[in-house]
Amino acid sequence: MSRKQLEEMAMINRQHAEDGTIKLANKILQIPASDYYDRNRWLTEIKKIFQRLPLVLGISKELKNPGDYKAPEVVGMPVIINRNSQRKLNAFLNICQHKGAALVETGYGNSNHFRCPYHGWAYNENGDLIGISDNDNFGNLDKECNGLIKLPLEERAGIIWVTLDHKSKLPIDNFLLGYDRMLAHFNFEDWYIFDTRTLKGPNWKVAYDGYLDLYHLPVLHSETFGTEISNKAMFYAWGPHQRVISPSRLSSQDDFEGKGIDYNKLPIKEVPTEVLMTGVWTIFPHVSIASFNGGGRSVLLSQLLPGENPEESYTVQYYLMEKEPDKEQREEAKKQFDFLKYVVKEEDYATGLKLQKGLKTGKMKSVLFGRNEGGGQVFHNWVNRLINAKDKDLVNLFKK
Ligand code: FES
Ligand SMILES: [Fe+2]
Repeated sequence: MSRKQLEEMAMINRQHAEDGTIKLANKILQIPASDYYDRNRWLTEIKKIFQRLPLVLGISKELKNPGDYKAPEVVGMPVIINRNSQRKLNAFLNICQHKGAALVETGYGNSNHFRCPYHGWAYNENGDLIGISDNDNFGNLDKECNGLIKLPLEERAGIIWVTLDHKSKLPIDNFLLGYDRMLAHFNFEDWYIFDTRTLKGPNWKVAYDGYLDLYHLPVLHSETFGTEISNKAMFYAWGPHQRVISPSRLSSQDDFEGKGIDYNKLPIKEVPTEVLMTGVWTIFPHVSIASFNGGGRSVLLSQLLPGENPEESYTVQYYLMEKEPDKEQREEAKKQFDFLKYVVKEEDYATGLKLQKGLKTGKMKSVLFGRNEGGGQVFHNWVNRLINAKDKDLVNLFKK
């Protein structure tokens, strides 16, 4: 884990804050407006990005005990993620190898095996086929070759990544490009899940643009975050994964314990790691982690997935807290989490839903990303690169 990198970023930010500058992108980027609503384009993005690259499908704390499993449906793929008795996580497709029935209902549970509700075939916690009802009628069917379809999985930094393509040649480690070592500074393994909820939103890229955009903060969120909040952003990229942070953050945004300290004035070595971790950490293609302070140090982790059509997405919001809150802190955490629901649903996503209607009229040819919106530029360039990349070229795209 490199605290040094965090210190370096903080020093760069301090210099920009002093000079009143940010690092600008080289040029303005224009992307076709239809990239946001064209159905074929959207299907290609799902196929080439969501069904081909590692996705964040959970956090370690959701599955903390042996036998714990979750069964989400992710871009049309039914998945099971479980923790086995050796505490190792597995991911499978939730598809019985007899005739394809779902083994478990969507949701959460705890079990050390999976018995198909259709004809009763049974699989152990590692997905091996261990029982066929009326076995004799299946001749010499090799059980070893008929286990559940196993998906690549990595558990890093208290976060669970799964690749939906079971034949993927892209190691999740390569895809992360060391970004997980930065995220490890949060120590999410030890955090507390306060609450979760799901929000419906606009096109996944419309929504994701918002997570990379600080430019809108004092305008769209003037009534909620206020007009004093900075609209300037620095972007630090590990391939497509980007940290977004304003160089001129309000000192109160870093003051988790309300000590009244202006951390920008401390020698960098004395700044606590948690303060160096503030801002927004995005994980391509669909996660944002933003620090807050409601009820104690906490983050809003948002996991975004495309919905049923180009104009729809779903966001699972997790409110994670560094420490389990007491009664008073609970109230504060609830207030903060409700506030964030309002901000995202009524301000960000409400704006996104109207915006995409405007785009879909076809009257606007392109969308602009200014030199101050470098994060959005990096994001869209990666999306384009990835949808055009052949499977065999993926590994090269994520060379360290
Ligand atoms: S489909 Fe699962 S046992 Fe038949
Ligand atoms: Fe916003």
